[in-house]
Amino acid sequence: MTDYRLKCISCEKEYEPERSLYYCQECGPLLGTLEVIYDYDKIKIGHSFSKNAGITQFKDLLPVNFQTNMDSFVGGTPLIKLRKIFGTDEMMIKFDGVSMSGSYKDRASIIAINKAMEYGFDTIFCASTGNAASSLAILSAHTRLKTYIFVPSTIPKGKLVQLIAAGAIVLPLIGTYDEAFDISMDIGLKKGWYCRNSAINPYLLEGKKTGAYEIIVQNDYKVPDFCFVSVGDGTVVSSLFKGFMEFERLGITDRMPRIIGVQAEGASTLKKVFEKGKPYTPIEEKVHTLADSISVGNPRDVIKACKYMEKYEGELISVSDEEILQGIMMLGSTTGVFSEPAGAAAFAGYQKMMGDGRIASRQSVCLVITGNGLKDIHAVENAVNVNNYKKEEIYNILEGGLI
Ligand SMILES: Cc1ncc(COP(=O)(O)O)c(C=O)c1O
Ligand SMILES: [Zn+2]
Repeated sequence: MTDYRLKCISCEKEYEPERSLYYCQECGPLLGTLEVIYDYDKIKIGHSFSKNAGITQFKDLLPVNFQTNMDSFVGGTPLIKLRKIFGTDEMMIKFDGVSMSGSYKDRASIIAINKAMEYGFDTIFCASTGNAASSLAILSAHTRLKTYIFVPSTIPKGKLVQLIAAGAIVLPLIGTYDEAFDISMDIGLKKGWYCRNSAINPYLLEGKKTGAYEIIVQNDYKVPDFCFVSVGDGTVVSSLFKGFMEFERLGITDRMPRIIGVQAEGASTLKKVFEKGKPYTPIEEKVHTLADSISVGNPRDVIKACKYMEKYEGELISVSDEEILQGIMMLGSTTGVFSEPAGAAAFAGYQKMMGDGRIASRQSVCLVITGNGLKDIHAVENAVNVNNYKKEEIYNILEGGLI
């Protein structure tokens, strides 16, 4: 662990870390999300990281002392490098669908679990569109922490079963993710449980930023020109900005990639806030998309994401559910990477920008695929047509060269 302080994203007031400090006391939970800050001059690291190791190799850049049995199994996901594909000479796919629980959220959950243990909590809770919850449940299963999960009752079955199998106490709410978030805050904080809610817990982003570190290390310390990732609350995209920014600040790299956040057309609240311009003012909307993980109408990290977008010239784009579905099939059939809808939104966003002629074939592209397709089979069922055959029909079809 490295010494750190917490800084309000809006008023920039600095705080010493405390057991139950989640957001700036003056700006409140939405405007006053906190960011972990370090004295970078005191951090001495070089190009010494391993391409295969997990998140613990970055301990000198994280605000936590690792102490669980699962720590070393988080991170270290593959960076699949492909040449001359989808119109670009150099494509990279950072695939976090193969992590312990099958999503990028493991990077955050392991940090929250370690923090809860450090501060002596016996219970941890989170509200989630599904993945944060299943990663928290799976990674805390072996600890003494009791785990309460608030999710919308519509979450994909795969994610629900994952939660139950991991022994979490699940409270599916007949309502939206945004409502589950509010109720979890009300109950969890009153009960004195440790909060692993996106944006509210400042340490989650620190875990997530390791995805950016790994992209650099696994790409031989070269910075991709573009990096695409899907956006709901805005924490994952902010974490990529911070991770790439820190490696640049520490002299490990010499530039930032162009980061493109991709939202679903039916759930593009963060994009709207960013495009309206400064002062960034949160709005709340009713949203709908088949990409359940990014179906967020009241994004909790909206200020941070907008500020990072502005500072490092990022961009937010949106894609239709149809484009996401096509993206799942094309990504799967061309690369073998089977993504859940939210993950494939990143690919659909890339295709859109490429189609608009905004990316040159010589420019390198990294797609961050944040979740495994097996988590939400239902979403793609309609795009998959399968015929069943009798034995003799199979012989006939193949002998007749019909398939
Ligand atoms: C698979 C997947 N992709 C992307 C996201 C978006 O992350 P954020 O809500 O931090 O923007 C999530 C969040 O739940 C997710 O589960
Ligand atoms: Zn503040």
